[in-house]
Amino acid sequence: MNINSILITGGYGFIGSNFIRFLRKKLPNLKIYNLDKLTYAANIENLKDFENDKNYIFVRGDIKDRSILEILYPKVDAIVHFAAETHVDRSIIAPGEFILTEVYGTFTLLETLKKYKNIKLFLHISTDEIYGSIEKGSFPENSPLNPSSPYSASKTGADRLAYSYYKTYELPVIIARPSNNYGPFQHVEKFIPLFITNALDNNPLPLYGKGENMRDWLYVIDNCEALLLLMEKGKIGEAYNIGASNELKNIDIAKMIVSFLEKDESLIEFVEDRKGHDLRYSIDWTKIKNLGWEPKKNFEDGLRETIEWYKTNRQWWEKVKRGEFSNFYKKYYKREIQ
Ligand SMILES: NC(=O)c1ccc[n+]([C@@H]2O[C@H](COP(=O)([O-])OP(=O)(O)OC[C@H]3O[C@@H](n4cnc5c(N)ncnc54)[C@H](O)[C@@H]3O)[C@@H](O)[C@H]2O)c1
Repeated sequence: MNINSILITGGYGFIGSNFIRFLRKKLPNLKIYNLDKLTYAANIENLKDFENDKNYIFVRGDIKDRSILEILYPKVDAIVHFAAETHVDRSIIAPGEFILTEVYGTFTLLETLKKYKNIKLFLHISTDEIYGSIEKGSFPENSPLNPSSPYSASKTGADRLAYSYYKTYELPVIIARPSNNYGPFQHVEKFIPLFITNALDNNPLPLYGKGENMRDWLYVIDNCEALLLLMEKGKIGEAYNIGASNELKNIDIAKMIVSFLEKDESLIEFVEDRKGHDLRYSIDWTKIKNLGWEPKKNFEDGLRETIEWYKTNRQWWEKVKRGEFSNFYKKYYKREIQ
């Protein structure tokens, strides 16, 4: 697929910003539009080095705002849709924004797409959480969806909407379902960065329940490679799991973090479990493996590198923890659309 310009939604978040940096390395001439609302989860420092890049255009805006999409769509050949509310805990406290962003936001992107035949690909970023928990074995892509949090339920709505626009209107949709990502630039409210940064400051590490919950940890750059492969070789109308077969209990990750930082395990504090907490996520990623992708990063190395990143980027996360960014965003310029 020949792609000269691309629209990324949510490009100032964790995976979106890693993906933009990754794309820039792989495709130096690609024109990249980043449409981001700059919610609390965004961080413009994630792409600070892009400010003088002529082929990078940031547009501050909401995916629910069709008038912005109408300006951007004629300029691009492909869309990679990351924008979402992503923190499960927040979805339990205040689900409304999740439903609006995931469901209505994705609907607006798809509905606008009907008009623009120049766009050859809509790569929708879904999640492994839509399958729900599994005791044994792993979910292939055609498994029933059984989400259990307002986050995963609204992501399920978005995933199925994307599929329905392929099936009903023949739009060029591909769906990616990655497992839990980790790596640099992840917001400190998420499990691994929270535990690393708390441990660095000798603060308690609040572990849900007995810490028995298992996730399949995927290094963010491995995920980026899988997404690029889907752009190049994925089949329109298909969904692809992206896993790493790195299944670990939260308690084991907490212990690894403490030990790599040479801290005391007494920092780990067991707290009341998250409501509706899924015990185990596991996906079968044979389908993308057959396309020619495999994760490269060994978990222990990836975790050590991630710890190193948070150690050397203390300024980045201290600002986030102090909440300074929310004020900064208000002043931030809106770059002209080219
Ligand atoms: N992080 C993971 O482990 C993981 C795993 C599987 C799937 N995913 C999916 O990948 C995507 C990216 O996740 P992340 O962890 O990078 O998220 P994130 O929370 O770090 O970033 C989300 C970004 O989306 C932007 N955004 C939110 N609402 C918007 C709106 N209405 N309009 C425009 N921009 C908006 C935010 O400002 C932010 O920059 C999400 O769709 C998420 O569901 C994440």
